[in-house]
Amino acid sequence: MQEYYKEDLAFIHDVGFNDYALKSAPGILEILAQHNIREGLIVDLGCGSGLSAQEFTKAGYHVLGIDISEPMIKIARARVPNAEFRIGSLFQVDIPPCNAVTSIGECLNYLFDPQSNCQTPINLFQRIYSALTPGGVCIFDIAEPGQVTQGITKGFTEGQDWVVLVEKEENPEQNLLKRRIITFRQVGEHYRRDDEIHYQRLYKATDIADELHRVGFQVEILRSYGEYSLPKAHAALIASKPKSDASC
Ligand SMILES: C[S@@+](CC[C@H](N)C(=O)[O-])C[C@H]1O[C@@H](n2cnc3c(N)ncnc32)[C@H](O)[C@@H]1O
Repeated sequence: MQEYYKEDLAFIHDVGFNDYALKSAPGILEILAQHNIREGLIVDLGCGSGLSAQEFTKAGYHVLGIDISEPMIKIARARVPNAEFRIGSLFQVDIPPCNAVTSIGECLNYLFDPQSNCQTPINLFQRIYSALTPGGVCIFDIAEPGQVTQGITKGFTEGQDWVVLVEKEENPEQNLLKRRIITFRQVGEHYRRDDEIHYQRLYKATDIADELHRVGFQVEILRSYGEYSLPKAHAALIASKPKSDASC
């Protein structure tokens, strides 16, 4: 479990790419309030460095964060000491009884865990449905096909003591996105280089909504969390477990 979001990329994601989680949080808290979920446990799958957990605990919820990256969990534990964090794959861990499940920042698209390498994550949705209390809600976002419209794109982002270079290539036949990531982080007088390759399966929001319906959820597809508009070719899904569960 050490190959992805290793120490330097976890650090860079936390300091340089925290907007997505922090700007999504007010909209997510609004959705929870609209569903009358004002307290209790939120399980955050792919919690990263604990940015959402920090906002949810500030709002009075208990949070269990789960992430496959040990360096991400290390940052999360330091950031939010009053939340609980576990290292594990969201496709395999036990999800305890809870009022809400969140997964922010296209975590479900990643193919880090061979268990995720199936057509749609229906087993995960069944596990979430069983864990949620009636009236509970699962809020998550996904990357859809159309991340890279032509060929290969290359770009970079820099901070005070780091640079990250990203090359993206989409295979439209297989709905796969490959991201080659090179990081340089200053350590003393020198810059340390590291490399990661991330594969993601891209899902159409309507296909995911069909899977969620099949499991028993009521589903809404959004293009923003409150005032925060999601990036191009991203969708948020709000999956509610009915208050009276007809399948029981
Ligand atoms: C783009 S980051 C988002 C992190 C965080 N939710 C945020 O918004 O800042 C994606 C996260 O998903 C995690 N992840 C990917 N596949 C996973 C899996 N199978 N199980 C648990 N975590 C996973 C990564 O380690 C990473 O922390």
